[in-house]
Amino acid sequence: MKNSMWGGRFSSGPDAIMEEINASIGFDRKLYRQDIRASKAHARMLARQGIIGADDAEKIVAGLDAIEGEIDAGTFTFSRALEDIHLNIESRLKTLIGEAAGRLHTARSRNDQVAVDFRLWVRDALDATDAALRDLQTALTDKAAAHAGLVMPGFTHLQSAQPVTFGHHLLAYVEMIGRDRGRFRDARVRMNESPLGAAALAGTSFPIDRTATAEALGFDRPTANSLDSVSDRDFAIEALAAAALTAIHLSRFAEEIVIWTSAQFRFIRLSDRFTTGSSIMPQKRNPDAAELVRAKTGRIIGAQNALMIVMKGLPLAYQKDMQEDKEQVFDAFESLELVIAAMTGMVRDMEPDAAVMKAAAGSGYATATDLADWLVRTLGLPFREAHHVTGRIVGIAAERSVELDALPLETLQAVHAGITADVYSVLTVESSVASRTSYGGTAPDNVRAAAMRWRARLAAE
Ligand code: ARG
Repeated sequence: MKNSMWGGRFSSGPDAIMEEINASIGFDRKLYRQDIRASKAHARMLARQGIIGADDAEKIVAGLDAIEGEIDAGTFTFSRALEDIHLNIESRLKTLIGEAAGRLHTARSRNDQVAVDFRLWVRDALDATDAALRDLQTALTDKAAAHAGLVMPGFTHLQSAQPVTFGHHLLAYVEMIGRDRGRFRDARVRMNESPLGAAALAGTSFPIDRTATAEALGFDRPTANSLDSVSDRDFAIEALAAAALTAIHLSRFAEEIVIWTSAQFRFIRLSDRFTTGSSIMPQKRNPDAAELVRAKTGRIIGAQNALMIVMKGLPLAYQKDMQEDKEQVFDAFESLELVIAAMTGMVRDMEPDAAVMKAAAGSGYATATDLADWLVRTLGLPFREAHHVTGRIVGIAAERSVELDALPLETLQAVHAGITADVYSVLTVESSVASRTSYGGTAPDNVRAAAMRWRARLAAE
């Protein structure tokens, strides 16, 4: 059967394979709300400009509302022969209101139509992601405030480095997510221009008012160049880049959760709500949600990659290749939404084991830097020499399999005669974290203040 929407010059319909490769209705039906919203704005503008009759515009708007109701209710029949959401809706409109439906496509093409629909969808996704990330920041900040002074090991190379606090560690992610949200907001500002009215690629001879449709759809202004308007998907790639970075941050945290919940670490306990059991090993409590946060990051990064590769060789203006943009973006943002929600749930429920964390913080000579700093501060040693002296002391402790504060004073003095008993005051993990009062440091008072700053910031949004 010939295509009823554009089949005028064709004598036969498409091959079944042609129809299959060409159709996007299987996925772009997600754009129905955006498509209807943009079509209503377009129809109203056409009537205001005297391009179509007011009565036709009214019929079009009422018909589109009815179609939205049908799709919402699941009673709409989608047809693959009609390719995509745009033609499916327009064809149904014709059935519902007759000839007036044919006037809707005046001064418009599917090229600007899909560009505007997709922008509206991406804009909503950016807003929803921002709101979800705000919830995650709130959950992290609450946990951080509750555990601002809980000492845990800080790692570099996954080796014990210096003690930090659990609150400080959590707030590191609040900062990262803050930058992620900034990227989503920046992307939104840049993308918030309306391509509607660019028509196929060259603009139109009808006296349309692009500023009016831009305003009606919540855009800041119309796009300035008709070729650019229908050709680019940089807004989608930029949104995916921000999504990928966010996912990377959450994936790193997920990896830490996997490590921390292992029997070898036991730093935190996830709730039953966010763990699963094993069908064979009764003792297991697996952190599957964290593992899947980590894994889904792969598809989000992949989506950005895929769309960049689709776009990189395309001449202006619209090419059908660009139809491949949607599945990547839909999948990435649906995955991201799930990942953020899972992370928020895990964070709200997670319980740190203070005793285990503190014991781990006190092992592995994590206060060696404090000892070196004491030698610099109290005895005036150059840091390099203090580092050397401390290294020898750590060596002796390692030989005897004890921690630094278990070494007798005489042993310390044998390495450097100037050492006094005062040194023990800097060798505990509590004194170590309490001393890190530099701006942004891990001292519990700093962490408390940082958590309060974030709380105020999040509450003021
Ligand atoms: N389904 C198409 C897409 O997603 C809509 C635009 C089609 N334009 C065209 N000239 N065939 O890109």
